[in-house]
Amino acid sequence: MNALQFIETSIADGIGYISLNRPKQLNALNRIMVREIVSTMEEFDRDPQVKVILLSGNGKAFSAGADIDEMVNDDPISMELTNQFADWDRISLVKKPVIGAVKSFVFGGGFELALSCDFLIAASDTQFSFPEVTLGVMPGAGGTQRLTKLVGKTKALEWILTAERIKAKTALQYGFINKIVAPELLMEESVDFARKIAKQPPLAVRLIKESINKAVDYPLNEGMQFERKNFYILFASEDQKEGMKAFVEKREPKFTGG
Ligand code: HXC
Repeated sequence: MNALQFIETSIADGIGYISLNRPKQLNALNRIMVREIVSTMEEFDRDPQVKVILLSGNGKAFSAGADIDEMVNDDPISMELTNQFADWDRISLVKKPVIGAVKSFVFGGGFELALSCDFLIAASDTQFSFPEVTLGVMPGAGGTQRLTKLVGKTKALEWILTAERIKAKTALQYGFINKIVAPELLMEESVDFARKIAKQPPLAVRLIKESINKAVDYPLNEGMQFERKNFYILFASEDQKEGMKAFVEKREPKFTGG
């Protein structure tokens, strides 16, 4: 990969870290930055050292949204030809779990990036908002779809039409974040959470994520069939043999990822 301009990345103890790194612009997402985030997620997805991906923002905020300076002169044809959403669409193809550690402003495209994560740990000062309507536009990277699937039409429509800032407590109440933590403990708590998942057998984690995602789009019966196939597949893995043998032998399992 070319040198990264707008994010920082590292790998430690099974966790692949991606930090948005435009702190002076409150991590406003320009198109190169989105491409860097997605390409790194894909690289981590292929790297056996990485079990879980942890996405966070450097500086004060997670992200104040898509870079308005970059969009101000856009027109429908330039956007069709640029096809920026092809990058965004690839996020949902990432097979490993993605945890978002969010704080302060999680606005617009930043909110959409957060909603593309599998888990969200939010600092108590987090505010989620879709301010697009105040700019004469609307969410374009899945906001109207993902938020509605998560919280239902009533609140999604209200929040997207009013641009209201949703507090972390409300987000937890509506079930689109997993946990609220003190701002100074955000990374520590997120890493603890990531470690819990990183120690599970990776194939089971992978097929569980895939099956649960299917529940969002599939009718129940098709989802059940999908779940069953994945359940059967896991019986071909070494970790199933080790996990069940360890239980019978009353010892801790040693998972290898096979
Ligand atoms: C470009 C941005 C930005 C953005 C902040 N900045 N948000 N630049 N695009 N989305 C820049 C500011 O211009 C400023 O630069 C610096 O970051 C610090 O921001 P301030 O406004 O001075 O900070 P503050 O007063 O604390 O206010 C924070 C804020 C405000 C409330 C978050 O910045 C704001 O309203 N930002 C825009 C939020 C927004 O509308 N997001 C949705 C974008 S549309 P300078 O150079 O002046 O210091 C979108 C569509 C997604 O996301 C579609 C799919 C891709």
